[in-house]
Amino acid sequence: MKIGFLGFGEVASTLAAGLLNNGAEVFTCIEGRSLKTKELAKETELNLCKSNRKLAESSDILISAVTPLQAVKVAKEVGKYVKGVYIDINNISPSTAEKALSYIENGKTADASIIGSVRKNGLNVNILVSGPFANQFAELNRYGMNINVIGSEIGQASAIKLLRSSFTKGISALLFETLYSAYKMGIDTEVLKYIAETEGEGFKESAVSRIISSAVHSSRRAEEMGEVIELISKSSDAKMSKATGEFFKQLYCEIDGINKWPGDYTEVFELINNKNRKK
Ligand SMILES: NC(=O)c1ccc[n+]([C@@H]2O[C@H](COP(=O)([O-])OP(=O)(O)OC[C@H]3O[C@@H](n4cnc5c(N)ncnc54)[C@H](OP(=O)(O)O)[C@@H]3O)[C@@H](O)[C@H]2O)c1
Repeated sequence: MKIGFLGFGEVASTLAAGLLNNGAEVFTCIEGRSLKTKELAKETELNLCKSNRKLAESSDILISAVTPLQAVKVAKEVGKYVKGVYIDINNISPSTAEKALSYIENGKTADASIIGSVRKNGLNVNILVSGPFANQFAELNRYGMNINVIGSEIGQASAIKLLRSSFTKGISALLFETLYSAYKMGIDTEVLKYIAETEGEGFKESAVSRIISSAVHSSRRAEEMGEVIELISKSSDAKMSKATGEFFKQLYCEIDGINKWPGDYTEVFELINNKNRKK
C-alpha cells in the first residue's frame, strides 16, 4: 500500500513515522517547502517524489495535511492526477471540504478529522472519516491507525471536528487570557489552584498544556477558527467563535513564531512580556 502525504508538518510526519514502522510505503514531496518541512522529511526517512503531481499519480491513499487555508489550493493543484483515494484531513468546514474534494476528478474521496493531539497520541490518534471512500481509508487501521468511519457523506466528520474545536479552542483562549492576567499580578499559581478545586484532578496539567500549545500553534488555530466561524454563522451570530479567532490572531502577532517547544507556561508569558517591553 502506497500512502502519500501532501504537506509534511506535525500531522504528516507523526503519522508517516508510525506507518513506516508498521511496514507501509510512505511518500511525500518537499519541493519548494520550508526548511522545517525538509528537515522533518529527512528525519522520517520516507520516499520523496519530485512533484505533487508524481505523488498524486503514485499514491493508493493520498492524504492532504497542509493548513486549512491551503486545503482547496492543494486539491485543485493535484485533482486531475489523483489515481487512488484522496483524503482531506485538514481542520476545515464541511463546505470547504466539499469544495476541496470537488476538484478530485476520479471522485474517490473522503473527509477526515483528527480528534485530539497528534503530538500526544501519535499514530493511535482518533481519526473520524466520512464520505464515499471512507472505508478504503479505514483499511490503514491494519498499519496501526485508529480510523473510525462515521458516515457516508462528505462534511460529517469535519462538522463534528469543528464544533468540538469551537469548544476546545474557546476554552484555551479564555484560560490563556485569565492566566496571563494572573501571572502579571503574581497570583497565577493560586488562580490555577482555585480553578482546579472546581474543575477537578488533572486540570493544572491540561491548563499548562493548553497554554503552551495555544502559543506554539497560534497561527494554525487562527486559521482553524476562520473555518469554525463559517460553520457556526449558519446557526447564530458566532460571537464567541469570532472572539476566539481574534484572540489567536493577536497571540500570533505577540508571539511572532516560537521555534522551540516551551518547557512551561511562564516561558510563554515571559516571551509576550519581553516583546511588549521592546515596543
Ligand atoms: N497537529 C495536530 O495535532 C492537528 C490536529 C487536528 C488537525 N490538524 C490539521 O491537520 C493539518 C496539518 O496540521 P500540522 O499540524 O501538520 O500543520 P503544520 O505542522 O503547520 O504543517 C503543514 C505542512 O503543510 C505544508 N504546506 C503548506 N502549504 C502547502 C502547499 N500549498 N502544498 C504542499 N504543502 C503545503 C507545510 O509546508 P511549509 O513548511 O513549507 O509551509 C507543512 O509541511 C492542518 O490543516 C490542521 O488543521 C492538526
